[in-house]
Amino acid sequence: MTIALEPMTPGHGARIKGVDIRAPMDAATVGEIRAALAEHAVCVIGHDTPPTDEQHIAFSGLLGPMERGAGAQLSGPNGRVPRPEIIDQGNMDELGEIYADDDRRLAYKRANRLWHTDMSFYDNRATFSALVGHAVPPSDADTQFIDMREVWDALPESRKAGLEDLVVSHSFWHSRVLGGGPEPTEAERAKNPPAKHRMVHLHEPSGRKSLYIASHAFAIDGWPPDEARGLIEELMAFATRPRFVFAHQWRLGDVLIWDNLATMHRATPFDDRVFKRDMRRTTMRERAEASGNSRVA
Ligand SMILES: [Fe+2]
Repeated sequence: MTIALEPMTPGHGARIKGVDIRAPMDAATVGEIRAALAEHAVCVIGHDTPPTDEQHIAFSGLLGPMERGAGAQLSGPNGRVPRPEIIDQGNMDELGEIYADDDRRLAYKRANRLWHTDMSFYDNRATFSALVGHAVPPSDADTQFIDMREVWDALPESRKAGLEDLVVSHSFWHSRVLGGGPEPTEAERAKNPPAKHRMVHLHEPSGRKSLYIASHAFAIDGWPPDEARGLIEELMAFATRPRFVFAHQWRLGDVLIWDNLATMHRATPFDDRVFKRDMRRTTMRERAEASGNSRVA
């Protein structure tokens, strides 16, 4: 055993000690990190200085096939982070300045304050996300999580009945508009169409069942729209009870890794017109893609 685990918060998540993602890593250590993720779903590895983009990408490749963006559509043509593997989750433009108030990119990024799971709007879903803190606001910029396996286990048996047969549609644009962003154009909608997934799935690394919904979810196959919305809202209200919610408080150089197939997460509000937040994310997928996908959150 080369790594050691401490609880990230009482009862949830794990802080992984004894490993540095900036250095080459042997297969046994990668296996231990995977085992920690299978059990805890959210893990953090601290560093005294942030890993470079290249080190971030090299480590991410050990966790599975990586998303590669087709273009920097939300970061502008001269993206601040020009690596196709890295999604820019900060609030800064190409010159390193905080976005203007009316910048469309800022409005869309605020949708990340809704409970969501990354890339559920793709057929080929996100497995792990690995987010590196390059500039961390002084307070109020936590990332909160909910373990959806725990939520599933806690649902009354009477409520679980029938849910495993349901198929849910997930749309990137649904959550952008729900989060206060502008309506997308028809061309944008066509570029990122919805995807369908089972409402309940087996989380293979842990062998536990997990609920798979969140803010991209907007419809259920065969259900009238208002009834589908009602059930999704009811389950979201149950899942977001305070007993299930835990938070990571960021430190510069943290690498936060979570399993999107077992969790929901959200960014908490901070003064994004005063403080710079530079967070960069890689995303692993269920399967390798022959070509890139759109660069969206
Ligand atoms: Fe996210």
